[in-house]
Amino acid sequence: MARVICLGSAVLDHLFRVGEIPVPPAKERATAYRAMGGGMAANAAIAVARLGGDSALWGRLGEDANGAAARAELEAEGVDCTHLRGFAGARTPVSAVVVDKRGERVTFGWRGEGLPADPAWLPLAALEGAGALHCDPRWHEGAVAALEAAATRAIPSVLDAEKGEARILLDLVPRVAHAVFSEGGLANFAPGLRPADALRRALAEGRTTLAAVTRGEKGVLWLARGMASPAAVPAFPVEAVNTTGAGDVFHGAYALALAEGREPAAALRFAAAAGALRARDGETPRRPALEAMLGSA
Ligand SMILES: Nc1ncnc2c1ncn2[C@@H]1O[C@H](COP(=O)(O)OP(=O)(O)OP(=O)(O)O)[C@@H](O)[C@H]1O
Ligand SMILES: [Mg+2]
Repeated sequence: MARVICLGSAVLDHLFRVGEIPVPPAKERATAYRAMGGGMAANAAIAVARLGGDSALWGRLGEDANGAAARAELEAEGVDCTHLRGFAGARTPVSAVVVDKRGERVTFGWRGEGLPADPAWLPLAALEGAGALHCDPRWHEGAVAALEAAATRAIPSVLDAEKGEARILLDLVPRVAHAVFSEGGLANFAPGLRPADALRRALAEGRTTLAAVTRGEKGVLWLARGMASPAAVPAFPVEAVNTTGAGDVFHGAYALALAEGREPAAALRFAAAAGALRARDGETPRRPALEAMLGSA
């Protein structure tokens, strides 16, 4: 079984369903509520596990009720949480997600409190047996430590270059082998550039060998060293019910595909099928559904 280590954020999302999202000040009754795990790296780790990989999540939680719920869900999915460390006195990142009757949503993300930046406790030697490392940009110091250790060991690395602080993306992209941006992340990284030029810039320095941008139902554009211009991977056509988390699942699936030894073009197609299924079903897919989709087109 291919092992993928995911590093970054685990969050507990609190979802409220309402009829209309009102203009404040207002008091509205929620018709449904549920708490569920989120966070880019955590969603990617679940995707790896569901798709048949050996999945571990390295990251930080508070030792609080939200952290316990996030951890329990990951463990139930079969994600190795040995190095998802809880810190006394820290508070777990949470978000409030309010969804109206049309499926439109408002999200407030809170990054937590008191989560120590120092990555010295990470078991970097355990990267040895991994087929790939996946990082998100939400724990900058942790990602730097793990990406440097992966490079030393020639382990393929993937960054979910999602939008956030530009300085973090500028620092992390040259450290990673596969920089896979969202559209917002690419705009943060290279403001004002056309996608092809922005991808070129991502390959211009450091150890990046492939840069890609995911564009929802428009599919993926990617550029590897030695290619004159970007190539496209079309999205699988689906009736999308909920596209939230499609990017996170895409990244987990991409890292797993690399860990299983696929070449980039095939790994991107594998990941596009996983993202499309997540958008279609609102659920992270399992391997048989993904194989069926790959075989169908
Ligand atoms: N509606 C869709 N139909 C088909 N494929 C989709 C759809 N939405 C997403 N995908 C697949 O998943 C990939 C990642 O999705 P997307 O580009 O929306 O990620 P994102 O912008 O990072 O979003 P998020 O992180 O919020 O999930 C897309 O490139 C595509 O291959
Ligand atoms: Mg994303």
